[in-house]
Amino acid sequence: VPLHLPWIDAILELKRRRGATIMAHSYQSPEIFHGVADVTGDSLALAQAAAQCDSELIVLCGVHFMAESAKILAPGKTVLIPDLEAGCSLASSITAADVRALRARHPGVPVVSYVNTSAAVKAESDACCTSANAAQVVEAIAAEFGADKAIFLPDRYLGAWVAQQTGIELVLWNGQCEVHEKFTAMQARHTRERFDAKIVAHPECPPEVLAEADFVGSTSAMGAWLEKEKPSRVAMITECSMADNLRNRFPQVEFIKPCNLCPHMKRITLPNIHACLRDLRHEVTVPAETAAAARRALQRMLAVGR
Ligand code: 13P
Ligand code: SF4
Repeated sequence: VPLHLPWIDAILELKRRRGATIMAHSYQSPEIFHGVADVTGDSLALAQAAAQCDSELIVLCGVHFMAESAKILAPGKTVLIPDLEAGCSLASSITAADVRALRARHPGVPVVSYVNTSAAVKAESDACCTSANAAQVVEAIAAEFGADKAIFLPDRYLGAWVAQQTGIELVLWNGQCEVHEKFTAMQARHTRERFDAKIVAHPECPPEVLAEADFVGSTSAMGAWLEKEKPSRVAMITECSMADNLRNRFPQVEFIKPCNLCPHMKRITLPNIHACLRDLRHEVTVPAETAAAARRALQRMLAVGR
């Protein structure tokens, strides 16, 4: 940590001079999450914060789709991302043309997109959701459209989880998170039996992993669950920084591996956050027409809330 201190000091000074707000997702490294961020949380928390942000400059420490969502919800603000290549295997699994083809195959069926998609895909969707409110959004959209089924994309595992929770038939896309798809049921079972640990899993994990979990939820919901249950040992079946960032908040809880790193989230570093604030790069922009259509889908999500 002492190695990080000069970077943290320099970033905090630049942030103050620029009047910027730094937002960091739960999967950002602790030196970013605890060291420089003003707002932290899951994808829903970051979208809500962007929609209400007072500063003219937002630095989004997360992946590209999160910065696009921030720009769409705060169109008058400048939104920067420290590394433009911070992508997501889910977002790159589907294009706007794929969504149009799905609609043609399922006429009249509403489309709910996970926020882990490009702005162009959101623009083709009726509503967006995050892992924190996917079931509630699907239920709200099915009721609004008077539909007994919906198209849910692109995460087939989150989709299967939502179908199970809601009983609503979902047409799924074959996308998955490259980080969460790697977890196995055997790992989860072994962790519980060997370490007597509670299992907390993200809904982007395969169904057989979720079947082993004591709790399934978004990254912010995981923190809330720990707050409530106060387990003595827990395994967070998700990205590694999740447990690292919760350690401070829950010193009495022992966090057990396994975890996997997201290479996209880890592209964001203290040096590139510093360069981002110093040189005002990289600005994230969304074409006006795409942004207007995507905003409608995102606002439906915000209306449902958490
Ligand atoms: P949440 O923070 O919304 O749970 O998102 C998880 C994720 O994988 C984001 O990339
Ligand atoms: Fe995408 Fe998975 Fe990385 Fe999140 S953890 S950004 S869903 S690849």
